[in-house]
Amino acid sequence: MARTETVEVPLGSRTYPVVIGNSMLCTLGKSVRRVTAGRLVGVVSDKTVWSLYGDQCSASLEAAGFHVVPKIIEPGEEHKTLHTVAGILDHFLAAGFDRESLVIGFGGGVAGDVAGFVAAICLRGLPFVQVPTTVVAQVDASVGGKTGVDHPLGKNLIGAFHQPSLVFVDTALLASLSERDLRAGLVEVLKHAVIRDPGLFDLLEASLDAFVAGTASADSWIDLVAANCRIKASVVGQDEKESGLRAILNYGHTAGHAIEKLGAYQRYRHGEAVGFGMMVAGQMACERGLWRSDELSRQRRILRRLLRIPPPTDMAPRNIWNAMKGDKKSLGGVLRFVMPRGIGDATVVSDVTEDEFAAAWAVTVNREEEPHVG
Ligand SMILES: NC(=O)c1ccc[n+]([C@@H]2O[C@H](COP(=O)([O-])OP(=O)(O)OC[C@H]3O[C@@H](n4cnc5c(N)ncnc54)[C@H](O)[C@@H]3O)[C@@H](O)[C@H]2O)c1
Ligand SMILES: [Zn+2]
Repeated sequence: MARTETVEVPLGSRTYPVVIGNSMLCTLGKSVRRVTAGRLVGVVSDKTVWSLYGDQCSASLEAAGFHVVPKIIEPGEEHKTLHTVAGILDHFLAAGFDRESLVIGFGGGVAGDVAGFVAAICLRGLPFVQVPTTVVAQVDASVGGKTGVDHPLGKNLIGAFHQPSLVFVDTALLASLSERDLRAGLVEVLKHAVIRDPGLFDLLEASLDAFVAGTASADSWIDLVAANCRIKASVVGQDEKESGLRAILNYGHTAGHAIEKLGAYQRYRHGEAVGFGMMVAGQMACERGLWRSDELSRQRRILRRLLRIPPPTDMAPRNIWNAMKGDKKSLGGVLRFVMPRGIGDATVVSDVTEDEFAAAWAVTVNREEEPHVG
């Protein structure tokens, strides 16, 4: 049997495993069978993922005695909407779903967030399994139970906490990912490293090129994903509903979500926007004397190696500020930024002014416009 790693997300009676391995899609059916006795399985996937892996996924589930009801959505963040959710609900209810039926999210963060939300609201809650197929989804989105869709006013404004019963991670599925999505996904790894894990930061600095070039071994991918899932599991285990600690996972996301929105969810990948958000939050942390400038520079160097896309110099800080204010994370109109205090340590700051943000934004985008070295 090939190597697998299991990370538990500790949530009392709702504790669930994240099983991580390589080339194990053929065992999905058996694993899902362990979490349900039902017969109907609704699979939410996107066209790209389903055309690559749909046959293998269905065959494995059918071999374990499931009747598979696929619902294939258009790829892309712009389809993470209530409209898409309504179409999936119509399809699953017409197929005769009952309380024993199970929903699988098979794809990137978009398919996973949408599938999880459908599972949360269909018949007041169905069991749910995540099968993440992008780096973002394997190291972050599939773990922790945040599900939902976007609203014209902002990202993830409609949603629910609904934990999966199992997260099934096959790192071999990443082989078909575009380089751009691979790079964007590694930004979430860097995020985890900066807020929580200096060892992961060192590993990324040393091995980034191998992960991007596709020369990293199966074992190193399993180790990388497991390290991230351990961080996420420990944070979520302590603060499932984000009343405190879990907020640190939003490092880079306050500005990142605004940048995604101003780019109409098409210009930047989620991870890219988060990367720019980490730059500006890190800059503010440095200006405040919370973070050492040499550590900010280390973050900058690694982000420059990751992001092969020009920064949003045309986005005015005022527009970003207003977009951030519309985000659900601005509690009572107060914006909260996660700021590093060291590599592996972060805190939440809620007294940033528009001027402070605008100054840090100007420094960040001007510097990123300089020619990239190395
Ligand atoms: N719930 C959470 O806690 C959480 C955490 C982080 C991110 N997210 C959400 O995740 C989303 C971003 O996730 P994403 O980057 O995975 O986006 P995505 O789901 O849009 O996937 C990116 C692209 O990769 C393609 N793709 C997926 N798997 C593939 C594969 N194996 N081979 C080839 N192509 C493949 C998809 O079709 C898509 O075009 C955002 O909506 C973000 O809000 C949620
Ligand atoms: Zn994210």
